[in-house]
Amino acid sequence: MSKKIRIDKLLAHMGLGTRSEIKRAVKLGKVTFAGKVIKDSGLIVDSETTEVAFEGTPVVYQELVYFMLNKPQGVISATEDGRERTVIDLLEPQDRLREPFPVGRLDKDTVGLLLLTNDGQLAHELLSPRKHVAKTYEAIVQGKVGEDDKQSFAAGVALDDGYMTMPAVLEIREYEMRENEVFSSIALTIMEGKFHQVKRMFEAVDKTVVYLKRAAMGPLKLDESLPEGAYRELTNEEIELLRSHKRAAQ
Ligand code: URA
Repeated sequence: MSKKIRIDKLLAHMGLGTRSEIKRAVKLGKVTFAGKVIKDSGLIVDSETTEVAFEGTPVVYQELVYFMLNKPQGVISATEDGRERTVIDLLEPQDRLREPFPVGRLDKDTVGLLLLTNDGQLAHELLSPRKHVAKTYEAIVQGKVGEDDKQSFAAGVALDDGYMTMPAVLEIREYEMRENEVFSSIALTIMEGKFHQVKRMFEAVDKTVVYLKRAAMGPLKLDESLPEGAYRELTNEEIELLRSHKRAAQ
């Protein structure tokens, strides 16, 4: 449905900067409407217009949605699958209409923070291997995780395919005995996202992850009040945090 919208609001909504950055861009002549440089960042346009351009690139308004899901076990991080239930199946029908997709993948048995959005530009920045967005996982690991593992992860370990991981920060939280075996509760922050990376890092030090949860991605933290399987829209503050993180990483 079309509506009337200020051009600076339209551009900010599409992630091209804060309202004041957009105002500056307008002053610098970077914004055009119908091929003409605009002078007034408060210009009212139709939201369905295709005539707005920023630095020469057309900008088309799209209602952007951002959901934080506490992913449960047993669903896959995909938009469609012939056999398995996907994270999109957990959304209300009206929330599926804007076609959000998961930003990155968590394994079927991993729980925790998953961002779902239709903001392709933001997703691309968060997933870009060049941006080294930090991801924090909490895990229960079979075996006694120790200082030697902390040092190995800080230095980088070789995965099963020979890939050397980037320095990662391991925090050991507590130990628990289960049927005469030691299990360790840990948190691990990694700056990359190789396939099954956390599980494979522990395999590299001869240990097995038995429970894995993502607690944070960049500046976004899992809302612990969300039960597994539940989701909510991001707050404006959370969206701005993600966007400023993206800008800072450029
Ligand atoms: N590392 C893993 O091993 N699995 C995940 O789901 C995420 C990170």
